Amino acid sequence: MKAPVRVAVTGAAGQIGYSLLFRIASGEMLGKDQPVILQLLDLPQAQTAVKGVMMELEDCAFPLLAGMVATDDPEVAFKDVQVALLVGARPRSKGMERKDLLTANAEIFTVQGAALNKVADRNVKVLVVGNPANTNAYIAMKSAPDLNPKNFTAMLRLDHNRALSQIAAKTGKPVAAIEKLAVWGNHSPTMYADYRFATIDGQSVKDMINDHEWNRDVFLPTVGKRGAAIIEARGLSSAASAANAAIDHIRDWVLGTNGKWVTMGIPSDGSYGIPKDVMFGFPVTCENGEYKLVEGLEIDQFSRDCINVTLNELEEERAGVAHLLG
Ligand code: NAI
Repeated sequence: MKAPVRVAVTGAAGQIGYSLLFRIASGEMLGKDQPVILQLLDLPQAQTAVKGVMMELEDCAFPLLAGMVATDDPEVAFKDVQVALLVGARPRSKGMERKDLLTANAEIFTVQGAALNKVADRNVKVLVVGNPANTNAYIAMKSAPDLNPKNFTAMLRLDHNRALSQIAAKTGKPVAAIEKLAVWGNHSPTMYADYRFATIDGQSVKDMINDHEWNRDVFLPTVGKRGAAIIEARGLSSAASAANAAIDHIRDWVLGTNGKWVTMGIPSDGSYGIPKDVMFGFPVTCENGEYKLVEGLEIDQFSRDCINVTLNELEEERAGVAHLLG
């Protein structure tokens, strides 16, 4: 039996947490032969709810669940963790300005980044799900100077999966057949889902669809506003699909993608004209526990314009929290 991997999940009492924890404990994220210890963080007022979730986890009798801890202290939750899923965040409340939301979250992710820096495994893989995910991941990364910045990522996988489904529906082909999709930028309606390089059975998706107006006027708005459409229909935000995307993101990062492209929000190395360190959605492949940027893709004018819109939004968010990062 392998040694257990310590996995921290923040916001453990929340909606996404409820869809996520059982799948992690069942082995869907790290493999069916990999025991896990769950280290659950939530606010003091949510501790009773976390205990309830833990009771249910116990009642599943998962063979791979080797232990659980619940706490409201980030330094306890992150102690020796090899994987950290930062899901908990401050939601926008009534009358709250975007600036206030950024600041409230900056405070949370400064503290959590510093705690990871202090107590996490030195190779911890961090995925930030809580919104604004890219900027929160950037803040956590900047607050953890002793950890490799490459180990901080933001979740763009839900946008990637949403785009895959829309393309599958449009082409009438199975999602699994779609290769080489990319989503650039911020996890927000400004993200740019880009199927110019995508193929299905070796055939170009762009040629198959051959409809720029559909791309611009239907596809991109549908993917970008999908979260709002789900809230409208369900009365609650997307949680199961977000949890599923988080599982996909970490599974692929840890276990590899076999050459397949996936989208991860990663700190830019300056490629594609994205300033260094901006936490940006890029196409990557994963192998041996590391992601690798897909390099050398041609960026046409339409794509450059779309990328600039999402980059500008991220730069504005970054400027809005700069004073908190010292
Ligand atoms: P929720 O409101 O159901 O749960 C959030 C949980 O986080 C609550 O239990 C709350 O007590 C906890 N929490 C708040 N501040 C915390 C802190 N400082 N430390 C630890 N726990 C804290 O929300 P839900 O639906 O689970 O969503 C969580 C986050 O994920 C939200 O920010 C949401 O916007 C974001 N999200 C991101 C997506 C993405 O693709 N990146 C997709 C969908 C949601």
